[in-house]
Amino acid sequence: MEYVRMAEFSWSVLEPERGEFRFEWLDEAVELVGDHGMQAVLCTPTATPPKWLVDERPEIRQEGPDGTVREHGSRRHYCFNSPAYREETERIVRAVTERYADSPHVAGWQTDNEFGCHRTVRCYCDDCAAAFREWLRDRHGDVETLNEAWGNRFWSQAYDSFEAVDPPGPTPAEHHPSRLLEYARFASDSVVAYNRFQADLLREANPDWFLTHNFMGRFPTLDAFDVSTDLDVVSWDSYPTGFVQDRYAGEASPDQLRAGDPDQVGMDHDLYRSALDRPFWVMEQQPGDVNWPPHCPQPGEGAMRLWAHHATAHGADAVLYFRWRRCLEGQEQYHAGLRRADGSPDRGYHDAVSAAADFAALDDVGHVDAPVAVLFDYDALWALDVQPHAPDFDYWALQEAFYGALRGRGVQVDVIPPDADLDGYAAVVAPALHLVTENLADRLTDYVASGGSLLFGPRTGVKDRHNKLRPALQPGPLTDLVGAAVDQHESLPRRLETRVRRVDGTDDAGGDGSAPDADGTSPFVDPDRFGFRTWAEWLVPDDAVARFVYDTDGVEADRPAVVENAVGDGRVVYCGVWPAADLADDLVVDLLASAGVPHSARLPDGVDVAERGGYTWVTNFTSDAVRLPTVDPDAVVVADGDQGPDEATSNGDQPVTVGPFGAAVFGDHLVDGLVAEKN
Ligand code: GAL
Repeated sequence: MEYVRMAEFSWSVLEPERGEFRFEWLDEAVELVGDHGMQAVLCTPTATPPKWLVDERPEIRQEGPDGTVREHGSRRHYCFNSPAYREETERIVRAVTERYADSPHVAGWQTDNEFGCHRTVRCYCDDCAAAFREWLRDRHGDVETLNEAWGNRFWSQAYDSFEAVDPPGPTPAEHHPSRLLEYARFASDSVVAYNRFQADLLREANPDWFLTHNFMGRFPTLDAFDVSTDLDVVSWDSYPTGFVQDRYAGEASPDQLRAGDPDQVGMDHDLYRSALDRPFWVMEQQPGDVNWPPHCPQPGEGAMRLWAHHATAHGADAVLYFRWRRCLEGQEQYHAGLRRADGSPDRGYHDAVSAAADFAALDDVGHVDAPVAVLFDYDALWALDVQPHAPDFDYWALQEAFYGALRGRGVQVDVIPPDADLDGYAAVVAPALHLVTENLADRLTDYVASGGSLLFGPRTGVKDRHNKLRPALQPGPLTDLVGAAVDQHESLPRRLETRVRRVDGTDDAGGDGSAPDADGTSPFVDPDRFGFRTWAEWLVPDDAVARFVYDTDGVEADRPAVVENAVGDGRVVYCGVWPAADLADDLVVDLLASAGVPHSARLPDGVDVAERGGYTWVTNFTSDAVRLPTVDPDAVVVADGDQGPDEATSNGDQPVTVGPFGAAVFGDHLVDGLVAEKN
């Protein structure tokens, strides 16, 4: 163990009364950490303003959209825009940072704790109303410009001044989508500003400390890319068996209830790694059973070791477990620690010890070098959340459909915002790039023209940046690049047919006029059929050629669903449906082949393969053993559980296996052509 994070909720202990500070207990803890050769990561305790402060300055409290005040009694009850809370934040942050500015045992700081947890990014109090108006004034200049930008003629929404614009409270019908998108952006920006306020104070106290914040899994309301610009290290909190229950599109399988889903967790690892393009930390790793999901099964045997390996394979440089010991009081008594209530080692402790021994056997693992990027856009997420147009449309789940297909071929993926630099990526996937500016369209066109391979998903190029349709057909400014337009879109319940079939066109890429007609007169050569769900667009190719058409008896029958276009030295595919796993795999394999990206055979569900530095990790989130017939046993550096490295390497006749919920590390690049089979 090298790092101990502590004191994240300690305000009432540090300052039991205004101005009466009690640092002795924390001094002692920091010294102990140092005595044991470790380093402390301390936290600003602002996630839990104490009762005396709430009583003195009740205006710091958050309000829900209906005006309900979020009372003292749990945590995260303060408003990010409260001027009073800024004063109190400055006071407590200065006090704690001055105390430890010269301590040799404090390596860095975590700002606050999990900004926005318990749905607290968006507050609707008077301070937020005032701050929202200022934020709008800065962006739009005058209210007429705002009315025009949002399109406020509709339903008589025009404002005569910025003072007239309120946070979106309860209404009989839905709110104006442009206003809701702006409120989502404003609320996220409010957290960015509050974090920056803390970061400036921390850097003032000691510029050598590293600054981090612990983000959350699959967290929709805060733009983590924006917050990260003020951090040195991005960290996040990973609870795999909880996430598959409370933020998962489907019903968790028995294996997922024991170990979680490697793609669900992996996408967060990759997003947080990509935020600063640096190794990240897992600040809180699930240590055993937890207290907050609907059900709290015990993780599979070895799962706490497995998660540490999986995080490392995806670019983590540190994995800290939350928490050290099961807490004897308060809300989280039903949450495991590495130690039991009586202080004795628990299951997670033994797993953490074996993970640490495994990592000691590795040389420097460097940084993940991903050949493919997925574009993840919080604006698109928020806009689609306002107008999902189907009960089961979920931006994050659609992202996971494409991301999961890439991971199913062992390819490392950066998850980056659309304004990130695309140089160096052999291929880019944009699953639902809903809001597209001219500038973004130009950048993507340049990327393809100069040899890039790009795969778009449905609902791309629909809106301008204010969440309005354009006077042009979808995909708007991307139409020339895609070489096709969207004639119609539809959302589909499960009882309607949702199938596409491959059509011939392999030799026609490049827009030579042989594109099939939208009325479906193209000849079908390849009989492959694939499923899709929820969303379908009828595409009309211009320069593009059709790759898949609808294979149904409905009104969409035979119309193009997936098209391909050649532009300059590159190639772009537009997929107008939410692909089922087989179709996503087919599209991704085609993309990887055209971009020359090495990849594995299709991996079994629940098995993750990832290269980092000179190593390849195989992590197995299933209760079946996994055989790796293409792997040379001599490549084993860290073997699984009870099968020691020597045993695995010397047993040359047997294929290498990774046991249930196991993890193994190989000292070579193995993804190209790798085969993994469930035993
Ligand atoms: C995290 C939080 C911790 C603890 C943990 C329980 O979201 O940061 O303080 O509540 O969950 O799993």
